[in-house]
Amino acid sequence: MAKKVSRKATVTVAKKRKVGVSKAPSAVKAGRKVNKPKDRVLITGAAGFLGSHLCDRMLKEGYHVIAMDNLITGSLKNIEHLFRREDFEFYHHDVSKFVHVPGDLKYIMHFASPASPIDYEKIPIQTLKVGSLGTHNLLGLARVKKARIIVASTSEVYGDPKVHPQSESYWGHVNPVGKRSMYDEAKRFQEAITMAYHTYHGVETRMVRIFNTYGPRMRLNDGRVVPAFMGQALRGEDLTIFGKGDQTRSFCYVDDLIEGIYRLLLSDYAGPVNIGNPKEITIKQFAQEILKLTGTKQKLIHKPLPSDDPMQRQPDITLAKKLLKWEPKVDRAEGMRRTFEYFKSLTPEELNEKEHFSFEKYAKK
Ligand SMILES: NC(=O)c1ccc[n+]([C@@H]2O[C@H](COP(=O)([O-])OP(=O)(O)OC[C@H]3O[C@@H](n4cnc5c(N)ncnc54)[C@H](O)[C@@H]3O)[C@@H](O)[C@H]2O)c1
Repeated sequence: MAKKVSRKATVTVAKKRKVGVSKAPSAVKAGRKVNKPKDRVLITGAAGFLGSHLCDRMLKEGYHVIAMDNLITGSLKNIEHLFRREDFEFYHHDVSKFVHVPGDLKYIMHFASPASPIDYEKIPIQTLKVGSLGTHNLLGLARVKKARIIVASTSEVYGDPKVHPQSESYWGHVNPVGKRSMYDEAKRFQEAITMAYHTYHGVETRMVRIFNTYGPRMRLNDGRVVPAFMGQALRGEDLTIFGKGDQTRSFCYVDDLIEGIYRLLLSDYAGPVNIGNPKEITIKQFAQEILKLTGTKQKLIHKPLPSDDPMQRQPDITLAKKLLKWEPKVDRAEGMRRTFEYFKSLTPEELNEKEHFSFEKYAKK
């Protein structure tokens, strides 16, 4: 782990920005006030939906952000507004390979991973690698840097749950060779190795089990239900419901989630914590809400339910409430309105792009 690898060999820098050890905001000069250098945080998956919001938040909190992403499902568009900042730098890097970051790190926020079923089913090996090897690399980095690390886990660790709502003490109901196993099992392994680094090496670890989250910067065609419905409504297509639409979901607005993650990072609790919005809705009702919000007259059409699609997902957030004094604040109507504003701002080309990513160039890696 301690082996020094040249930056050139491991890192490609997006845009022509200097990367490396950050400078203190002001130099030590006689007679001048010396500012303390900002604490540095590494955020992986930074060009993705959640990672980009975390970058915004950590910059707002006064940290120097080192963003890292291999752009397999993310987009630089999500963070392009940050490139001109002195307290932001970007490393184009696959965290499943050795990760080297020069200088101190106070926190590591490991959010790199494909997160939507259509992504991880297309790139199953990369998904397993980033959850396992990637997490291992970042835990090693946390150990060397004496940094606290928070890893992004998921409600998928509960699989198709037999207990509702799901609390952290529920062990889940997962098919290890099912359609979603590359994601579910990668995240379960991620939790196990994170806990092992905590108990064996004494690394300060935090784990957030994220439930369905939505908001601006979701990828339109990533297959998740919010962008899927919004895209269909905006393109004038009928809204597709898988199965009868009586499966339930609970959606958390991204600002609420980021607040929960930030509080968990600063807490002293090493076990997994659910962060999500417990308010449930059936997919059919949700589709009707979207039609109302977008003012469109399309129909709802039904397609067969994919296998291993959970019928119900609802977080029990008792622990987060107690531990972090956290609960969601943004109601669905307001969150969906803000999200719709974002999708409306996309160009017609973006709106009509059927498939955002070809994963071919990653297939052999
Ligand atoms: N959005 C949700 O509702 C949700 C729910 C549960 C868990 N999560 C977790 O939160 C994290 C972020 O999810 P998201 O919704 O922002 O997904 P996303 O696909 O928008 O972002 C993931 C980012 O990780 C990057 N990435 C993937 N593999 C990488 C690798 N090997 N090296 C470097 N970068 C890599 C992608 O390019 C992308 O920018 C993921 O770990 C996901 O499992 C998200």
